[in-house]
Amino acid sequence: MELTRTGLPGLDKILGGGIPIGWTSILSGSPGAGKTCLSVGFIVEGIKQFDEPGIFCSFNESKKELYLTQKGFGYDLEKYETEGKLKFLDLSYGRALGQGELALPQIKLDLPGLTKKIKESIDAIGARRMVIDPLTIISLLFDDVREVRYNFLRFFDVIRRFGVTSLALAEKGLESFSVEEFLAAGIIRLYNERLGAKRQRGIEIVKMRGINHKRGIFPFSITDSGVVISPDVIMPS
Ligand SMILES: Nc1ncnc2c1ncn2[C@@H]1O[C@H](COP(=O)(O)OP(=O)(O)O)[C@@H](O)[C@H]1O
Ligand SMILES: [Mg+2]
Repeated sequence: MELTRTGLPGLDKILGGGIPIGWTSILSGSPGAGKTCLSVGFIVEGIKQFDEPGIFCSFNESKKELYLTQKGFGYDLEKYETEGKLKFLDLSYGRALGQGELALPQIKLDLPGLTKKIKESIDAIGARRMVIDPLTIISLLFDDVREVRYNFLRFFDVIRRFGVTSLALAEKGLESFSVEEFLAAGIIRLYNERLGAKRQRGIEIVKMRGINHKRGIFPFSITDSGVVISPDVIMPS
């Protein structure tokens, strides 16, 4: 399996090198766990260290919201966009229809339409990396489990042919694995667990196809300069 370094130092060490080139890995965690921040780090380091353009597909935040919050981590997304290294794909159909921030994503969102938009964006800047924030939204488009599974499979298959290395974000708690986690090439999980009156952040590689990655939950923090991962200590239980 050919790997690409994510560019996030601690993470690449836990991964045993990086993530599989051209495949989709899932980055999952509860709200506030740090999914968006880490995934932006993946795109930004790709641009800075490897000159790999990236696209950020957002179902949740508008471009304005994302660019503003990520400034707080020292990521100047506007600059990368101007340089043609970053493309933001707004997939909030509520906003696209001019219905304001509170509108729910309309179920008009169809997978062929979505993948076509993604492909156009990839081609526009020659993207090599992609983030989908969050992929979970696709499961809301279908009523039964079999259809959800089939459509995730189809989606992964189409994305695979685009040749980009992707992080697809999954919104979830810890209780079980979701369909997209079973189907993806890898799973990176972020924890933000309550310990008495505090919360402790952690990161774990649950699976990564074809890679001998480190096992266990490692300390993870969010700082003014993005995410920091400590690859040498496993968290106490
Ligand atoms: N400057 C900062 N320093 C440390 N932590 C921060 C900072 N800014 C935001 N955070 C933390 O990061 C969290 C947001 O992470 P985010 O990537 O949006 O999570 P997710 O996408 O998983 O919901 C906030 O809830 C907050 O706890
Ligand atoms: Mg988020």
